[in-house]
Amino acid sequence: MAELDHWHPVLLSRELGARPAAVRLCGRELVVFRTGTGVGALSDVCPHRGMRLSEGRVEDGRVVCPYHGWRWAADGRGESPGTATAKPCAEAFDAVERDGAVWVKRAGADAAFPALDVGGWSLVGRLRRRAQAPLEVVLDNFIEVEHTPSMHALLGYPLERMGEVRCEVTATDTTVRVYNEGPQKPLPRALNPLFQLRAGDLFVDDWTVRFSPVHAVYEQYWLDPDTRARRPNALRIGVFFVPVSAQETDVVTLAYSLKSPWARLGLNGLLLGLTRAFLAMEIDRDVALVGRLADKSPALKGRSLGRFDKALVLARKRLEAIYRG
Ligand code: FES
Repeated sequence: MAELDHWHPVLLSRELGARPAAVRLCGRELVVFRTGTGVGALSDVCPHRGMRLSEGRVEDGRVVCPYHGWRWAADGRGESPGTATAKPCAEAFDAVERDGAVWVKRAGADAAFPALDVGGWSLVGRLRRRAQAPLEVVLDNFIEVEHTPSMHALLGYPLERMGEVRCEVTATDTTVRVYNEGPQKPLPRALNPLFQLRAGDLFVDDWTVRFSPVHAVYEQYWLDPDTRARRPNALRIGVFFVPVSAQETDVVTLAYSLKSPWARLGLNGLLLGLTRAFLAMEIDRDVALVGRLADKSPALKGRSLGRFDKALVLARKRLEAIYRG
């Protein structure tokens, strides 16, 4: 399956401790573990007699199967304590720990690692959430802003002014970029000074979708409506869409912020914490929403699409060509 050829973030680093962890990716069951010098990933089926390796333990960087004690290294080479001449081999995957997550792809697959370009940005937080919907349906939600008035608490545009929102979509063979600009929906009064915004500011949500793996990188910032000068606050958020199965998709979010002007007062940590909480709330709303859809078919044909849905059609074509191969 071509999907496995791309790097996918299957766990956050903090979710992988000393014990092996079971993960699912594109319907495959894998075991992920720490080797002492890095991370490893194998098929979660012991080649000896089919036990789940994720129910075992890690010793000297190898997974020990709980059934008969055979040991498996990250490159797949196994060892039987009772049959020294045996040379068993498990299916191994390439695995790496980077950006606070554990990433996996098919061994030897020639895929570039996705770059977020966040030098100089402060980490806001990392989240992994599971949506009960297919990859395409989850992606659709994250690449249009028409749902933000009704589904989001803070980020987005007011419903009665959606007609004013600029939505410009441009595409290359490998990317789909969407630039949205319009009035920020009214925020609770205390938030404007805290985040150095003013009532009436324009909210820009500018993202580019790429397909190896399927992910979108958002740049979110605010403009003075008169001068169009950028406010000091900005977010850069990478959201990765990881198919767990045909009907489940993990949404892995790596969020960064420009350093707040309040940093000199020692408030940067507080603002990052608040931003992390707000972001988690918004993503939880998205994940809950797609799980409640009455029709989760990925097909777009036959649907009544609007001007904000253009990116969905463009993304589908590239997803099929690049991601699914
Ligand atoms: S099933 Fe794993 S060692 Fe026998």
